[in-house]
Amino acid sequence: MKDHLFSNPCHLKICIKILLSAALVISMSFHGERNDPKPLDLGNSLMPVGAYYYPEHWPEEEWERDLKKMAELGFQFTHIGEFAWSRMEPEEGRYDFSWVDRVLELAGQYGLKVILCTPTPTPPAWLTHKHPEILAVNESLVRQQHGGRLHAIYDHPIYLRYVEKIITLLGERYGDHPSVVGWQLDNEPHFGPIYDYSEFAVARFPVWLQKKYRTIDELNRSWGTSFWSQTYNTFEQIPLPNKNTKAHAGNPHAWLDFARFTADRLAGALRFQAELLRKTISEDQWITTNYAYYKFLPATDPFLNKNDLDFASHTMYLTSGHLNDEGGSLAFRLGSGLELSFSNELARSVNGYTGIMELQPGQINWGRINPQPLPGAVRMWGWHAFALGDRFLCTYRFRQPLFGAEQTHKGIIETDGVSLSRGGEEYRQLIGEIDSLSRLKVEKRIPERYSSRKTAFLWNPDNLIDIGNHRHHADFDPWQHIYSYYAHLKSMGCAVTFVREQEDLNPDQYPFMVVAAYQLMSRELIAKLRQYVQQGGHLIMSCRSGKKDPNGHLWKARNQEPIWELIGASIPEFDHLPAAYPGMVESNGEQYKWYQWGDWLEPFKGTKILARYADQFYKGAAAVVSRQLGRGSVTYIGVYTRDGKLEKKIINDTYRQAGRVVEELPPYVFLEWRDGFWIMVNYSSRAYEYPLDEKANVLIGDPLLKPGGVIVWN
Ligand code: GAL
Repeated sequence: MKDHLFSNPCHLKICIKILLSAALVISMSFHGERNDPKPLDLGNSLMPVGAYYYPEHWPEEEWERDLKKMAELGFQFTHIGEFAWSRMEPEEGRYDFSWVDRVLELAGQYGLKVILCTPTPTPPAWLTHKHPEILAVNESLVRQQHGGRLHAIYDHPIYLRYVEKIITLLGERYGDHPSVVGWQLDNEPHFGPIYDYSEFAVARFPVWLQKKYRTIDELNRSWGTSFWSQTYNTFEQIPLPNKNTKAHAGNPHAWLDFARFTADRLAGALRFQAELLRKTISEDQWITTNYAYYKFLPATDPFLNKNDLDFASHTMYLTSGHLNDEGGSLAFRLGSGLELSFSNELARSVNGYTGIMELQPGQINWGRINPQPLPGAVRMWGWHAFALGDRFLCTYRFRQPLFGAEQTHKGIIETDGVSLSRGGEEYRQLIGEIDSLSRLKVEKRIPERYSSRKTAFLWNPDNLIDIGNHRHHADFDPWQHIYSYYAHLKSMGCAVTFVREQEDLNPDQYPFMVVAAYQLMSRELIAKLRQYVQQGGHLIMSCRSGKKDPNGHLWKARNQEPIWELIGASIPEFDHLPAAYPGMVESNGEQYKWYQWGDWLEPFKGTKILARYADQFYKGAAAVVSRQLGRGSVTYIGVYTRDGKLEKKIINDTYRQAGRVVEELPPYVFLEWRDGFWIMVNYSSRAYEYPLDEKANVLIGDPLLKPGGVIVWN
């Protein structure tokens, strides 16, 4: 409460001063690189806030009271429909949309916009009973049953026939409804048994493979099937890779293709829905889907739907305890800010802008433990979403349900249906604060300090799959490795864009690029990276990069030889150590422990050594090297240290040597700039004071940032 914008008379004065003096400069969004995003029309605020509502869970008499209350609290939109198929089509072919009509009418009456969802994650019982063949089969070869969600095979032709009917009807009916501003396809569509082992998948995989390889000989070559007598005579003989049945046990090439096949199928199912809707809805309505955090989704590739969706949205439950939150004794209550940040920046990278479709408003029910968020944390998460450029925030959910699997999941409203929850109070505060900022006319030019350290993170999920198949050191978790690099960038206050190899890698747009454990590289990519550097880019690569070709084969050359010329060193060998006997690496008189991965480097003439191994039989060999190339630089970090401090220092030095100002934020403190405001949030268990510039106008919060605290200034 103390942080409220106008609760402090000094802040009020400052705000008035700004209102009087500041000029509104052209609105340009740094986070939204796309200059012409479709207006989302979710409300008139820099980040309109909405809430999920399930009319099907409540008596009709309560709908009006609830929606009125939602609007009174300052929410500007609601979100309905994703699990309501059985209510929309109670029996085959008997549709009932009258209740949707009524809800939309009430929403309109109270000025709430609506995101309408396709109800496809939960096909009705009559459908799964009639067609059990549409139910997915998991890797234990167990067929899913009715009663969960995402249990249907999302691209099964029979299922799609029903999907087509309901989506067409929805689109025709609401495609130009004044309250419906946009559509969400499905719900966290990749969160079911993503690898499908149904008969349908068994039949489809060979077809997909045949299209890709054309001849069985080509597949045999690409999959290296002469190993362990895996050779196939026909495509039909090929089983689905499966850890349980050991089909293709250890064949990394088969697994890579299985993951790509899976991602393609999911993307195809989403495309099917998007194309159906586009036939009927107005041009003003937009289409998205809500990807859950990526860490669990290696076989999903949101970029495949770049042209089908207007944008990718994301969801986040910070206290679920599945995430990495090592930020001290309060971390379990403050949640993983790194995940929120990563998830936003990855979703944003797909089409240049994003919004957060689900954010917990309090305690959840499905985590490993389900703690109460620290007072202030719910509001801080909202501010963090704002800081990251989210175009909207939708909280999950408005009312706590009285029944069902998520009974103990908090909502904005308590179980009595009328009292505001603790999180609800924080939402009210957040909405008020964001509205106040939205009314300010401020300088929106992106500060040089922020734009000049903008960083591209080269992204290809194949690397995660390939390393995941064979970590080589059990403790080499590819996600952990990527997160550690991402965390270093965030501690320097860098805005990060995930870029694909196919994109233009332009140093004017991205002066820095991180390529972390990018194991699969084509020669074309290596040439493209070289060109990026020659044109002035600063490239930072980490261990394992370029070890294999895009099929996951080692090169017929020395270890990683195709990148030697680029990095200015050879990499004759690499090593692993047991965690109990770490090695040391030395840089500038400091020593750092490592054990998961160590590439030994032999620099070529003109390449500088930034760190060397301080022990083992290869003592003195280089571990980190750097070279100038054309107008840019390449730094190769061959060692993966235990606490990441060496990597952080090397990255930091790279930016400074290139003349950039970088932040030195403690772990779990995040700083971003958005629409004319600097925003800092503190997920760590300690208070932190940022050295604010003398001219800074503090609009919200105190410079001494407590755990869960927020400060906004310009
Ligand atoms: C999300 C899901 C929602 C709801 C929520 C509960 O992952 O998309 O439908 O289940 O979790 O926290």
